[in-house]
Amino acid sequence: MKMRLDRWLAALGEGSRSEVKDWIRGGAAAVNGRVIRDPACSFDPDRDVLSLRGKALDGRVTRHVMMHKPAGVLTAARDPKQRTVMDLLPEVYRGIGCMPVGRLDKDTTGLLVFTCDGELNHRLLSPGRHVDKRYRATVRGRLEEKDAEAFAAGLDLGDFTARGAELRILRAEAETSLAEMVITEGKFHQVKRMFDAVGHEVLQLHRCSFGPLELDPALEEGMWRELTDAELEALRKAAGMTEREDA
Ligand code: URA
Repeated sequence: MKMRLDRWLAALGEGSRSEVKDWIRGGAAAVNGRVIRDPACSFDPDRDVLSLRGKALDGRVTRHVMMHKPAGVLTAARDPKQRTVMDLLPEVYRGIGCMPVGRLDKDTTGLLVFTCDGELNHRLLSPGRHVDKRYRATVRGRLEEKDAEAFAAGLDLGDFTARGAELRILRAEAETSLAEMVITEGKFHQVKRMFDAVGHEVLQLHRCSFGPLELDPALEEGMWRELTDAELEALRKAAGMTEREDA
């Protein structure tokens, strides 16, 4: 992927767009050791070595993140009024096109994955891919075995029929119950609508895992970290992106 030199340096957080333009014109930037004075010059951050004032920069375009999404923030690239998950990441991630994979409702907490890789993002969300997503839900009322059976059979939600889903009841009390469920689809409000369909309002929803990725227990709400190489590899595998396909 080719990038404009000034845009990339600004996205990396080295300075504002106008500052980096001035620096480039002044001869501060080099690509593969050759000074480049044209801010609009394009280069390939995956292959070319970029340096600023003689210091090599980490020019990766591909960044992949897991976040413990807190309640109260929107899953959106930006919003004129409300705080979004992108506001919890450093600006550079927005600059290089890092986007959430799917969405969690504003009041849902838990694992949200971000990637700059549009192909990976698209594949993970593709309806035919059936990536497992595990949620923990606190619901109103007592959950019973018949609810688990209804989930397993698949639920008619009006505009679509949810595929059979595993529901594991962890605590069942008259006031509230706690359960874990795994779904392979990701329709709008799907978990809440499935519980609604069996007469239980969701009071709290938390995503514990996404495909092969488990939310890192060291991440408190609002915290994030980059995926490890092994996690990224597992995610790419879940998306059907094998080494051979990529080559
Ligand atoms: N299903 C929902 O209803 N809400 C979410 O945030 C995620 C899945």
